[in-house]
Amino acid sequence: MVAENNRLKTEIAGISMKNPVMVASGTFGFGREYADFINIEELGAIVTKGTSLLPWPGNPPDRIAETPAGMLNAIGLQNDGVESLISEKLPWLRQFDVAVIVNVVGKTLDEYAEVARRLDGVPGICGLEINISCPNVKEGCIAFGTDAGMTAAVVGSVKAATKLPVIPKLSPNVTDIAAMAHVCEDSGADAVSLINTLMGTSIDAETRTFRLANITGGLSGPAIKPVALRMVWQAAGAVSIPVIGMGGISCAQDAVEFMLAGASAVQVGTANFINPNAGPKIARGIDDYLARHNFEHVKDIVGAVKSNNL
Ligand SMILES: Cc1cc2nc3c(=O)[nH]c(=O)nc-3n(C[C@H](O)[C@H](O)[C@H](O)COP(=O)(O)O)c2cc1C
Repeated sequence: MVAENNRLKTEIAGISMKNPVMVASGTFGFGREYADFINIEELGAIVTKGTSLLPWPGNPPDRIAETPAGMLNAIGLQNDGVESLISEKLPWLRQFDVAVIVNVVGKTLDEYAEVARRLDGVPGICGLEINISCPNVKEGCIAFGTDAGMTAAVVGSVKAATKLPVIPKLSPNVTDIAAMAHVCEDSGADAVSLINTLMGTSIDAETRTFRLANITGGLSGPAIKPVALRMVWQAAGAVSIPVIGMGGISCAQDAVEFMLAGASAVQVGTANFINPNAGPKIARGIDDYLARHNFEHVKDIVGAVKSNNL
């Protein structure tokens, strides 16, 4: 058990968390991969690896490449499917006192809705994050997240299939992030999360080949932080539902910046690969910041960035 800290305790879209720091989908497996190294009960929430109706094999290797201040990945949403999540992964996770949000992926509207339907009522799930933004699969996903009509359709179908809070995860690979956040709110989303990875590529000049078998991959890590921060600020200004911010968060100061920009909670992704304890460490650092600046509660810093006097 982890001692409760009233200053950090928060609730988003009906999901109660010990603190506003979650681990981002695809960077923390299903928790088991990290449980030998950290106390996962110190996290606000675990967002699972993207889960589809049937198992997906993912892309062929090479699937990751390092970049200056970040990484490219083209995993292609490899996962064992929703039935394996229900029968194996969730029962193991239920022994821990930590909120679990399941990240859902699909290639069709029906597939998204069917995964949501199967997860509805399964004990130990607090919410569904809907990945409409993965740049590494050829069908579905990003095609949904870059088209306003398809975004509305997928959010509506998932909402109709579940009583759980629904959190669409937005793609940064769009022109107007505020408009996409707005579409989600209008379609019944309980919160939005952003950003997923930015599409990029990498070439090895010596061998004159692409480093990723998939050619393109998703860029994550500190390199994307300024873009993510700007998008979170724009999305938060456009909607009244909570915004969950991520993209390059590696330390408490990064997390505080996202909250000042309007995020009610944050997710830590690539930083987990450098330090498995990044999430708990960031939560403690946010608490230090609140104490240092005399804030009574973490909610007090949400959207508290001051406007510049122009
Ligand atoms: C290796 C890897 C796998 C990922 N898999 C998923 C996934 O399955 N579903 C998803 O919604 N996002 C996935 N993401 C995106 C992250 O959740 C996050 O949105 C992105 O990496 C930006 O945050 P970061 O810069 O802190 O990593 C993945 C990212 C990485 C690096």
